[in-house]
Amino acid sequence: MNFSIKNTSLRNLPTSCLVLGVYQNKLLPDVTADIDKLLRKQLTKIVESGDINGASGQSVLVHNPKGLRAKRIMLVGLGKKAELDRKKYAAICNHTAKALLKYSLGDALLTLADLPVNETETDKKGQILAQTFENSVYQYNQTKSVKGKKPALKKIEIYFPDKEAGSELKAGLNTGSAVARGMAVAREMGNLPANICTPTYLAEQAKALAEKYKTMETQVLGEAQMRKLGMGSLLSVGHGSDEESKLIIMEYKGSSDKSKPNVIVGKGITFDTGGISLKPGNAMDEMKFDMCGAASVLGTMTALCALKPEINVIGVIAAAENMPSGRATKPGDIVTSMSGKTIEVLNTDAEGRLVLCDALTYVERFKPKSVIDIATLTGAVIVALGSVNTGLLSNNDELADKLFQLGQDVNDPCWRLPMGEEYQQQLDSNFADIANIGGPKAGTITAACFLSRFTEKYHWAHLDIAGTAWVQGKEKGATGRPVPLLVEYLLTN
Ligand code: BES
Ligand code: MN
Ligand code: ZN
Repeated sequence: MNFSIKNTSLRNLPTSCLVLGVYQNKLLPDVTADIDKLLRKQLTKIVESGDINGASGQSVLVHNPKGLRAKRIMLVGLGKKAELDRKKYAAICNHTAKALLKYSLGDALLTLADLPVNETETDKKGQILAQTFENSVYQYNQTKSVKGKKPALKKIEIYFPDKEAGSELKAGLNTGSAVARGMAVAREMGNLPANICTPTYLAEQAKALAEKYKTMETQVLGEAQMRKLGMGSLLSVGHGSDEESKLIIMEYKGSSDKSKPNVIVGKGITFDTGGISLKPGNAMDEMKFDMCGAASVLGTMTALCALKPEINVIGVIAAAENMPSGRATKPGDIVTSMSGKTIEVLNTDAEGRLVLCDALTYVERFKPKSVIDIATLTGAVIVALGSVNTGLLSNNDELADKLFQLGQDVNDPCWRLPMGEEYQQQLDSNFADIANIGGPKAGTITAACFLSRFTEKYHWAHLDIAGTAWVQGKEKGATGRPVPLLVEYLLTN
């Protein structure tokens, strides 16, 4: 999709469709001032007819508006003027994109960037706009013999008369496009079935990214190399599978200085049957999404490659397939992690933490500024926070506060849950240093407590995306979250 900024009179701009907003009190925003005399009467009539009352989500199409070079006008509802915040703004952008797609329009001229959005700078408006529009044209096609019709919408012109702030808007559009590209990668990886998207496939994708961009380097460790490193915990998860487990290390070097890198680590269980602690059959297909943490790391690295910021970031993926078999790890088995800590595997379905703990020990070598792991770790986080907020747990208040705030800023929210000594005790084992489950209570917290035993050497945050990485039902598919949050964090820290 191509975005460009226009600051000349709306009247003289040719377009298939000029998009204008209407507030819920039937008020046309000031952005129409430029064409006010020509249009106010005509548009007011439409609004007063009741065809649109300005509620968010509404739209009407008007053909051949008088005195303009636009072929159509689309009026879109903006909701109440005083309530227009980022979240509502993103929803408006989304509705508008969907409406333009519905009419198969190839180009449009938007006035949405000129709306006042509460506590939102111009660049953030651009970012939200580009990200939402790009995201709305994502289609999953790879495994269909009949591909979906290519969306017509290619050219978006954005009316923005403030010439001075034009470069800010442009920067925001650029960031938003890159984030959306990263989200598309994350969605595609997540949506692919587990018979295609194996640990080896993820490794190939990471290598392909490094081939495309000079600023990226990818290294892949196989099982033999991981055995040498002592990663008995990670290896125990893939033991029952015919697919080889992989540790994928991606280094983005945008800065020549030797500053410490921020590190992101993704859970890459390409299919989670539960292992010998087998899951019930209902909706088990969705466990192909158990690598969405890994997908968000790949997506985030892709966005960085597109943006080329002068920063250093390391992305790590712990990839394995969790299967039952004669070779599979059994409940009660004890494994030794890379840290030397022994783990009693009381439940083979609590496998995410087993692959992550070794990856988290591995990244100590980078002397990281911070480490964030991203994982579809617990069903319990869906009970606690639903599909709205990603679960956030951390050993550092400053890092947690930052992630919370940035989540609000980019409309990819997360909510902090506590950790503490009382919860840590739930992981006591009679036979090993630590058990891999903490009983039925506070499942998300005890999972994070488990990880925290392996992250004592650096500032660490854990994002449990089990509720936010994909949606169920008719629209089943990966969301691309939390790529926006991760990119924002890496760009600003
Ligand atoms: N991948 C699952 C978590 C999950 C479950 C995500 C359902 C999304 C939907 C994870 O590996 C898992 O199985 N966790 C167990 C942990 C339990 C055995 C302590 C869970 O949440 O039930
Ligand atoms: Mn599991
Ligand atoms: Zn899992």
